[in-house]
Amino acid sequence: MDIKKVVIIGSGTMGSGIAAHLCNAKVPVTLLDLKTEVSSAARDRIYKSRPPLLIDKSNIDNIKVGNINDDFDVVKDADWVVEAVVERIDVKHDIYEKIFKNRKPGAIVSSNTSSIPIKVLSEKLQDEEKKDFCITHFFNPVRYMGLLEIVKNENNDLNKINSLKKFCEVELGKGAIVCNDTPGFLGNRIGVYAMQVAMTEAMKMKLSIEEADAVFGRPMGIPKTGVFGLYDLIGIDLMSDVLKSFIKELPENDKFQNVAKEIPLITKLVQTGYTGRKGKGGFYRMNKTNNQKILEAINLDNGDYSPTKKIDLGIDTVDLKKLINRKDKYGEYAWSVISQIIKYASSLVPGITNKFNDIDEAMRLGFNWAMGPFEMLKSIGVKIFFERIDDFKGNEFLENLSSNKNENFYGERQLYTEIETLGKIKPKAIKVDRNKSADIYRFKDFNIVEFTTKACALDYDSMDALKNATDKPLIIMNESMQFSAGVNLSYTMNFAEKGDFQSIEKFIKYFQETCKHLKYSKYPVISAPSGLALGGGEEVAIQSNFVVSHTNIVMGLVETLVGLVPAGGGCKEVLWRWTQTDEAKKDPDYAPMSVFNIIGYAKTATSPIEAEPLKFLRPEDKRIMNRNSLFEEAKKIIENNPNFVPPKPCTFNLSGKPLKEKMLKILEKLYNEKIILDHGMKVGSELANVLSGGDTSIDKTLTEDDLYKLELESFMRLIQTKETQQRIKHTLSTGKPLVN
Ligand code: NAI
Repeated sequence: MDIKKVVIIGSGTMGSGIAAHLCNAKVPVTLLDLKTEVSSAARDRIYKSRPPLLIDKSNIDNIKVGNINDDFDVVKDADWVVEAVVERIDVKHDIYEKIFKNRKPGAIVSSNTSSIPIKVLSEKLQDEEKKDFCITHFFNPVRYMGLLEIVKNENNDLNKINSLKKFCEVELGKGAIVCNDTPGFLGNRIGVYAMQVAMTEAMKMKLSIEEADAVFGRPMGIPKTGVFGLYDLIGIDLMSDVLKSFIKELPENDKFQNVAKEIPLITKLVQTGYTGRKGKGGFYRMNKTNNQKILEAINLDNGDYSPTKKIDLGIDTVDLKKLINRKDKYGEYAWSVISQIIKYASSLVPGITNKFNDIDEAMRLGFNWAMGPFEMLKSIGVKIFFERIDDFKGNEFLENLSSNKNENFYGERQLYTEIETLGKIKPKAIKVDRNKSADIYRFKDFNIVEFTTKACALDYDSMDALKNATDKPLIIMNESMQFSAGVNLSYTMNFAEKGDFQSIEKFIKYFQETCKHLKYSKYPVISAPSGLALGGGEEVAIQSNFVVSHTNIVMGLVETLVGLVPAGGGCKEVLWRWTQTDEAKKDPDYAPMSVFNIIGYAKTATSPIEAEPLKFLRPEDKRIMNRNSLFEEAKKIIENNPNFVPPKPCTFNLSGKPLKEKMLKILEKLYNEKIILDHGMKVGSELANVLSGGDTSIDKTLTEDDLYKLELESFMRLIQTKETQQRIKHTLSTGKPLVN
């Protein structure tokens, strides 16, 4: 079955997200709604979306729009028709009647429903029609969420379902998990239950919402929005509707019912327009008074707001065993929530799926959890879990496990896909070394380095791991969300605050030395980024010999935003790439001026397509839709390069002083227009110094080492200024850079 044309009916949040993603996969798609104005407005929203739903905005015209009355004929041509209209069975039934009357024989028809069982959706269909009908449940935002749940009915043509699964996996890059027809399928059944447990336990234990989110967040390997932050993000009103649907669909004795009951505070919030971020605020709200924005949190007892309090649990890695053993209310809360999630998820096997592994994967891909309930159980330890757990009678999975106490019950991971993923390889590989910031694995005849710090921020140990792993071909990649958000700023600030600038210099030198080593070592080095590859993260990637990039990456040399310049070879490497252009051959200032503009404005790319014109990626670098395939593709590069020869060292001829003056003129203009302030001038001048080659002239040839030295000197001058330190501290405490 070939999917060459797709029609999507309903152009709301999900229909437009699916259309945008098909456009990303270069599949022509038509979006139909009740009126063309609606689908056309949806297309405009796609174009303007942030984070962008499109990998390449210039392809927007590949999404055609229309309405279901005048333009329904497009269905006759479609290989796949996706229904994404409102969650009302009468509306959906009417649409199916129309689709099946018009569709091409054998074309697939699927629904994006989040809660209506396939039995009900397909009750009016002929057997022949049912053969080609299924649920394809995408998650919002479609480009970024990895999970796609496919629900079959008993009449399905299995070959067709398998080829649809394959298409969604390969072309759309989704983790496509086929699951049973049960309410909320896998992701929402466990994910929404977990949110409800986290919320009701917080209320019972009288935790503040900041405290609950501080525990049910990073320390548990869950995104930092926690539970109350996530409620606000999804929409409190939408969550209430989701709960109503679960209450209706699930049997009365299902444990979900105990935590799904309406909570008076929530009813009041919805009634008063506090529906979350899209409304006046929710559990958190931004209070704007006297030109000041203050984030406030609700008091769960009385509904009053007060400024949020930062909760510091002193945890920076996920260690569930340690977390649940804490002798404070946070440890107690964590245990209560985690144990209930494990109990509930395991009670649903084999009802919702016979592969418990798929539940974990659904939580990773659909909710961005670092591990699902069963991996949580594994990481706590079977013995410890059963020492603490109370009643689990009737829970077949736990009863079996409690009798054999098999600590290795988990077996293989990611069974839902045939792709050889990093997750599947890690348990089979030899862990040759580890330090507090990275793990080194040996698989076959090559090494893999996986960064392990928060957001994979880089420090001395990360560099040490990279350097030590170049004794074989090397793949740099990881399973967590980010490739690397850059150098660990708090590590750098710790030295700065003590006035220990020597240690910072030592670290930056080691960073440079490592990157140079990656580029010129005897064996190929391949970076396989996904998520953020910023600052130092980008420097590692661009100084690797090959890059296999996921289509969801954010790349940029953003150091100027914190008052620094890239000093791990970022200025040097991007400059080198620009000097290779035809324009640069005609005008020696072309490359440095272009890079001055890119790094000075801290330009970022939100996809490989955007990264290429900035020369963060090269045309020969690979772009991969399915994150799971990064490992296989990186491995192929090693296999295809048995006689790898490292690149030739590069040299630079830069104009020096006159070029620097040109750059300073630009800075002066920005300063006069108050676009940059005093410190911006200083940072810009340092960048100008590096990119113009310092004290040089066009006939003098500079080496990479000369450029590294200029980067280091500028970096060291800047890090010692009070203003740069303030910027770093601001970024560390708010997660956002200071403007100007
Ligand atoms: P939405 O309310 O944003 O959009 C629905 C669209 O359908 C509207 O543009 C509406 O004008 C259109 N529509 C209504 N009746 C129609 C008809 N007869 N013919 C053509 N268009 C019609 O809804 P949303 O959120 O996009 O949801 C769509 C489906 O996806 C629902 O089944 C929902 O349960 C499901 N879903 C929603 C998720 C979410 O996060 N919003 C996540 C996963 C699934």
